[in-house]
Amino acid sequence: MCRLFDRAKFWWKNWVPLLAEVFGIEGNIFRLKITEETPLKPRYEVPDVLTSKPSTVRLISCSGDTGSLILANGKGDLRCHITANPFKVDLMCKEEVVMSINSLGQLYFEHLQTPLKQRTTREKEENASIDTSQENQEDLGLWEEKFAEFVDVKVNGPASIGLDFSLHGFEHLYGIPQHAESHRLKNTSDEDVYRLYNLDVYGYKIHEKMGIYGSVPYLLAHKLGRTVGIFWLNSSETLVEINTEPAVKYTLTQMDPEAAKQKGSSRTDVHWMSESGIIDVFLLTGPTPSDVFKQYSSLTGTQAMPPLFSLGYHQCRWNYEDEQDVKAVDAGFDKHDIPYDVIWLDIEHTKGKRYFTWDKKRFPNPQRMQELLRNKKRKLVVISDPHIKIDPDYSVYAKAKEQGFFVKNHKGEDFEGICWPGLSSYLDFTNPKVREWYSGLFAFSVYQGSTDILYIWNDMNEPSVFRGPEKTMQKNAIHHGNWEHRELHNIYGFYQQKATAEGLIQRSKGKERPFVLTRSFFAGSQKYGAVWTGDNRAEWSYLKISIPMLLTLSITGISFCGADVGGFIGNPEAELLVRWYQAGAYQPFFRGHATINSKRREPWLFGKEHTRLIREAIRERYALLPYWYSLFYRAHMTSEPIMRPLWVEFPDELETFGMEDEYMLGSALLVHPVTEPKATVVDVFLPGSSEVWYDSKTFASWEGACTVNIPVTLDTIPVFQRGGSVVPIKRVIGKSTGWMTDSPYGLRVALSTKGSAVGELYLDDGHSFQYLHQKQFLHRKFCFCSGVLSNSCADERGHYPSKCVVEQIFVLGLKKQPSSVTTHSSDGKDQPVAFTYCARTSTLSLEKLSLNVGTDWEVHIK
Ligand code: NOJ
Repeated sequence: MCRLFDRAKFWWKNWVPLLAEVFGIEGNIFRLKITEETPLKPRYEVPDVLTSKPSTVRLISCSGDTGSLILANGKGDLRCHITANPFKVDLMCKEEVVMSINSLGQLYFEHLQTPLKQRTTREKEENASIDTSQENQEDLGLWEEKFAEFVDVKVNGPASIGLDFSLHGFEHLYGIPQHAESHRLKNTSDEDVYRLYNLDVYGYKIHEKMGIYGSVPYLLAHKLGRTVGIFWLNSSETLVEINTEPAVKYTLTQMDPEAAKQKGSSRTDVHWMSESGIIDVFLLTGPTPSDVFKQYSSLTGTQAMPPLFSLGYHQCRWNYEDEQDVKAVDAGFDKHDIPYDVIWLDIEHTKGKRYFTWDKKRFPNPQRMQELLRNKKRKLVVISDPHIKIDPDYSVYAKAKEQGFFVKNHKGEDFEGICWPGLSSYLDFTNPKVREWYSGLFAFSVYQGSTDILYIWNDMNEPSVFRGPEKTMQKNAIHHGNWEHRELHNIYGFYQQKATAEGLIQRSKGKERPFVLTRSFFAGSQKYGAVWTGDNRAEWSYLKISIPMLLTLSITGISFCGADVGGFIGNPEAELLVRWYQAGAYQPFFRGHATINSKRREPWLFGKEHTRLIREAIRERYALLPYWYSLFYRAHMTSEPIMRPLWVEFPDELETFGMEDEYMLGSALLVHPVTEPKATVVDVFLPGSSEVWYDSKTFASWEGACTVNIPVTLDTIPVFQRGGSVVPIKRVIGKSTGWMTDSPYGLRVALSTKGSAVGELYLDDGHSFQYLHQKQFLHRKFCFCSGVLSNSCADERGHYPSKCVVEQIFVLGLKKQPSSVTTHSSDGKDQPVAFTYCARTSTLSLEKLSLNVGTDWEVHIK
């Protein structure tokens, strides 16, 4: 640790000393903490989000002028220039000032105060000279806010904090989910700032900056040559103002890259404000997008490695009525030859919305039902919300009540609010004991009717409190440690998902990977499972906005994300439903879901042709599972987002900075979902002047750095493979992922302009932690160079027996017909291979191969 000033102080208006500390953190991160030096009582510091205590590095103190200090990292290329009076921090990378903090003087820190009524005469006299504003403030009502009939009393007065950051040369900012807004953050106005406050907003409006279900108080800024991040670790209600001052009148796209790099005068000011807590902010210095991703995940963790089944298609509805209904829907998928992995049960499966129970009339034998699904190699997900019905005969309620495990109201009684079951109390997941107990509820012996194919969905965990202020909990409710709800509102759902995921791990004695979907989330939720975008509508505009919403989640660490396919509210017409399946098939979490009063919409209910189209979209998803799974492994190990905005893959191309109607899946596939009704053509931008792109179906190719008009029918999902990549696929699609373990692979080798390509494949048992503890995995590398395609080991530590073979190889972009193709196996055997070559598309096809996926081999093309 290295302190900024040795307990240097600066003073806020009432002369309360604040303490500022600067830490250097491994991986080129700076942390700035500012808090009251001697607060009346402790201020809330967000626990449990940082994966471990960040490893600090020694900062070297270089002399500054009087009243200033320069702290540098070991190499000296990153420096913090700190000026005491007025307080300002400049973050310098080499000679460039990247960011200035408090240069606009918006540092704000309301200190905790004793209510006037409770002060002793002596205190009043002592404070009289320095604290005259308080009496007025109390009168003015800053100590008390009203929301409808709710009065929010702030016992120690308003305690908000704020700070400004000026990002020099940056005009493109992204992040701070969750908003139904564009990927690139917009300038804000006084009435329209980005709000981070987790709320249950049914059918939320789009293109609004109001807070919805989750919050990640982290943004990224990008310009040519540098990406940086600001992670504001605070879980109270937070507002973010953004104001970009463009440098010049002409637009960025009109400038040549060198000129654009040079221009120093554009700037974006970001003003963070939180209702309470402390200022605890991490500055991630990049310089590349992938450096920033690594820096952020070194603090908050990477995406959990999901079980393979969860990457398949999920079928949900509020509600599947009963066991018969589940059986019929399950059979419907087989009848129509549509693969799917999981069927979901919403709140109606329980006895009166008492989670962990079953409505015995509808589900008389849940185990039998799960056995049926197990035999089909499919899974069940059921819902478990954080509100607990007040009913002394309900054992979950009775036990939690007895142990004092509910959130309290400001009078110290159990908080009571209304949700699905009627009057309920809310488990206090911020209490480690409550989490431990809740985790235990998932044990097979405790959760009657559950089996090891049952997984969990956490909903309503903002928390949603019907008839509460803004449909949530009063801010002066009390949590473990006597903390007010206001301090930790945005992290409540994070804790529920954490406890659930830990419960699922424990029930398997630490062996199996959990799957937990959550609606509410915070920074770090990626460690515990998947997130979806809540109650969207069956409208084209919601299909369209799902892309930027998911891109934003993805770059803020939450790779496993999706939107309800079809739109939750309303009844999609067949065309919209098809387009949504096509888009969803290329988004990480792929689930169809519909609200209770919507018409049934299983994929086969819209006529033969639409059934075929939906089947095809879902089958494309299953064909690409090896690629998806390998991408998840990379997200898990190396922090790379799975769904990537184009600017992440093409950080030097200005045109990509604002794009959000298309994106990259990993580094190999570009996807441009059709989101307009009756589309006959889509304009697809193919980036990179030295790139070549191949249509994933027709194998037609284009040079990069151009927009192409792709004709589309309802059959088309515009997906392009980047030259220079190898994408592994599955050749035979089964009823679910479980049926595809041994099915053969295909490789799509798309050659770059230089005639080379690389790619990889990760595989393991798909469900356990053996990949981690026993290194039971295969990580293979495919490389095409000088006419030779090789399969070699990418990670020698891994071992996993696989009988799978590569059966088919397509080489796209092979300019001339080969005269011979031979395979060379590691035991020295050479074998000629029959091939076909299509001169029109420059594609070489090798079929009926039998090359083991886990051994070294080469294919020589002459
Ligand atoms: C709200 C969720 O967003 C939705 O997906 C779910 O179906 C309902 N709650 C009922 O549980």
